[in-house]
Amino acid sequence: MSLAAVLLVLIQYLLGTSESLFTPGLAARTFASSFQGNGYNFVATKAPGAYSNVSPAKMILRDGYPSETHSVTTEDGYILTVFRIPGSVHSPPVFLQHGLLESSADWLISGKNKSLAYILSDNGYDVWIGNARGNTFSRKHRYLSPNDPRYWNFTWSELGKYDHPAVFTHISKINGQPLVYIGHSMAGSTFSVMAIERPDIARKFKAFIGLAPATYEYHVRAPLRYLAPFWRQFQQMCYKLGIYEFLPHAKIFNVLAKHICQQSQLQEALCTNPLFLIGGPNPTQLNTTLLPHIWSSFPAGTSVKLFTHWLQQMVVNEFSKFDYGPAKNQEVYGTARPPKYDLSKVQVPSAVFWSKNDWLVPGEDVRHFYEQLPLKMGIYKVQDSTYNHFDFLWAPSAPEMVYSKILALLDRLDLRNNQLYY
Ligand SMILES: *[C@@H]1O[C@H](CO)[C@@H](O)[C@H](O)[C@H]1NC(C)=O
Ligand SMILES: *[C@@H]1O[C@H](CO)[C@@H](O)[C@H](O)[C@H]1NC(C)=O
Ligand SMILES: *[C@@H]1O[C@H](CO)[C@@H](O)[C@H](O)[C@H]1NC(C)=O
Repeated sequence: MSLAAVLLVLIQYLLGTSESLFTPGLAARTFASSFQGNGYNFVATKAPGAYSNVSPAKMILRDGYPSETHSVTTEDGYILTVFRIPGSVHSPPVFLQHGLLESSADWLISGKNKSLAYILSDNGYDVWIGNARGNTFSRKHRYLSPNDPRYWNFTWSELGKYDHPAVFTHISKINGQPLVYIGHSMAGSTFSVMAIERPDIARKFKAFIGLAPATYEYHVRAPLRYLAPFWRQFQQMCYKLGIYEFLPHAKIFNVLAKHICQQSQLQEALCTNPLFLIGGPNPTQLNTTLLPHIWSSFPAGTSVKLFTHWLQQMVVNEFSKFDYGPAKNQEVYGTARPPKYDLSKVQVPSAVFWSKNDWLVPGEDVRHFYEQLPLKMGIYKVQDSTYNHFDFLWAPSAPEMVYSKILALLDRLDLRNNQLYY
């Protein structure tokens, strides 16, 4: 068992399940009121037990856009929250999906003229923003509670197989025009799984645009790769400790956001470096003013099983289903090894973006993914070679470096012409 694994589990344990240890109390309330001064509404005034105080619906309204909140129930009972910035009657729908441990809030944090969601809205699109099951905004289920281990028995395969089809069926009923999917990181795998397993749903899509799409993870450069070979021990240990949820947005992160990320000398150590260690270091494109807002919603939580699945992908150069070990694989899949996903079945025109300094989803892995897609629209390297994994969401230069290219791609798709690829 590696030291890193022990530490990770320990941190997770402290943050996730012993939240009350960190209940901020009086000190936090004092800090909270001093934080209220700067015009943002991320202050802890909510009932205890609420994981985050960032409401994307409120962020959208605050930034001067109309906002809708939709609830969608999946076939297997999860109740997901989808936010919408509605356009006019003929606005083509565009769907934004977040990556690992992220949430819908991450598409809004940079604000007007900077965040992709607002830029798309300004350009006449009907913008829908998803939340994966188990994150801060999608924690409900028809009959399971997040305190029940069975609630957390999912990985990104289920996000693709159940979450996406439910959400896209819902969107199609409201705006029946062909959809475009724009996803960061893990959204590359969830979209692919959906397209492979539910071609009937994939047919609603005119295009897929992946920003640092994660499917293959073999070349990951983040220190996380040292934990990867120990995925089995990691998962077993979490389960032994009764931990099924990975890095929920515990109060401690709000405390971090409010007290530390704003001004103190600890900002770099506690707020900046963790992002750099995961995504690759890039001080030039990190707007430190955004740090309190980033840490008000990130990390947004997922299942230990889903995170373990990513560790597995870092060890094998494959895009495959969850590895339960030979005996259980035989029972679940009928084979000793987990089956690989066949990317040639993704029958949706696809474009991908990658950047040189991305430690989490490096260019090698994005190219490996793109090579196997049958309908290629383009693979784009971000011109700024310092770009890291998170710069696709939060970099001050993202509108010119990345989003302007997305708008050009969308123009080329001629979305107002309802003709689909098929
Ligand atoms: C956004 O850009 C528009 C047009 O350039 C400008 O008028 C407006 O002030 C900007 N808003 C913000 C919040 O930067
Ligand atoms: C979790 O799901 C898998 C596959 O869907 C199933 O084989 C397994 O028994 C489930 N585990 C639990 C604890 O419910
Ligand atoms: C950094 O973020 C703040 C708060 O959103 C914003 O006012 C400022 O313009 C941003 N700086 C840059 C360089 O984009």
